[in-house]
Amino acid sequence: MLPPELQQGIEAFLENIDLKTLKAARESTSADYRKGADSHHTFQNRSQLLSYLVTRLPATYGAALQVFGQMQERLPNQPIRSLIDLGAGPGSATWAALDVFPDLQQLFLFEREFQVIEVGKKLSALSAHPAWKEAQWQESSLDSLTLPKADLAVLSYVIAEIPFYSQLIHRLFESEISFIAIIEPGTPAGFERIRSIRAIAIQQKWNIVAPCPHLFSCPMKEGHWCHFAARIERSRLHRQLKEGALGYEDEKYSYLILGKDPLPPLEGRVVGTPHKASGHVRLPLCAADGKLKEIIISRREKSIYKKARKAEWGTAWPPCKAEM
Ligand SMILES: C[S@@+](CC[C@H](N)C(=O)[O-])C[C@H]1O[C@@H](n2cnc3c(N)ncnc32)[C@H](O)[C@@H]1O
Repeated sequence: MLPPELQQGIEAFLENIDLKTLKAARESTSADYRKGADSHHTFQNRSQLLSYLVTRLPATYGAALQVFGQMQERLPNQPIRSLIDLGAGPGSATWAALDVFPDLQQLFLFEREFQVIEVGKKLSALSAHPAWKEAQWQESSLDSLTLPKADLAVLSYVIAEIPFYSQLIHRLFESEISFIAIIEPGTPAGFERIRSIRAIAIQQKWNIVAPCPHLFSCPMKEGHWCHFAARIERSRLHRQLKEGALGYEDEKYSYLILGKDPLPPLEGRVVGTPHKASGHVRLPLCAADGKLKEIIISRREKSIYKKARKAEWGTAWPPCKAEM
């Protein structure tokens, strides 16, 4: 669920716009995406931007929240004090980062569309978080900017729009940024972009914080793609715009979090739905040896059985959280 002040701010933007206009804007954005992503601008007009706030921002915020949550679980003692949000849009991923990282103080948001920055600034003015007051928004294209020093950089749902993304990734690798999080739609194309960045990162001696528990080549076979899902509550307006009956939708995403330093080892990551039978649990894992496998944990294995019953698609295995 979105922070209440963000939800209220979005609703305030929509007061004077009719549903028909918003629906048409949403449909034309979807049609643009279907045509191919590389060259289009996400927001051709204000209605498209407003429809993004209703139908996409909750999903990108929800995916970012889970991704940052996985990072924090892997590195619970790593303070994140500064964040660069590249292709920030209205600041969705930054809102999520502020919810996850308690030490976050310094925010840099880079976005090429002036009208999106204006909306992002108005929304952030509603937050009581002190970091937003000092946030530095910069209207610039990602091909020409100078990257400041920061603990974490995020590219949330933006790589598909950047034809020169491998150059940008190389620049990030050479910068003074300690961690890089990349989130893409959980589609075969989104995953392929993640997989190609992963390969470059490994060549450049970066380590993987999540989701991969190894640095071997990715074992996903043809026709399969590594992705996860965030359950997103739909607002009333969201349901009207998408004509969906359900009160929620599952946002599928693929992601990669990179770090400069080696990490504590991980046995695996759950990459499918766990099968929970009576007396045992089967977990589909991407394992530390670089292979996809299924492990079976029986009730007799008391110490980990309880953890296995709580495991979900996307969980690190074994889970690091004390309460699990
Ligand atoms: C799909 S939106 C994602 C927005 C936000 N990161 C999120 O997760 O909701 C992609 C954003 O990237 C911005 N963008 C695309 N190409 C860019 C570029 N070359 N330089 C700066 N911003 C760019 C677009 O204007 C748009 O706001």
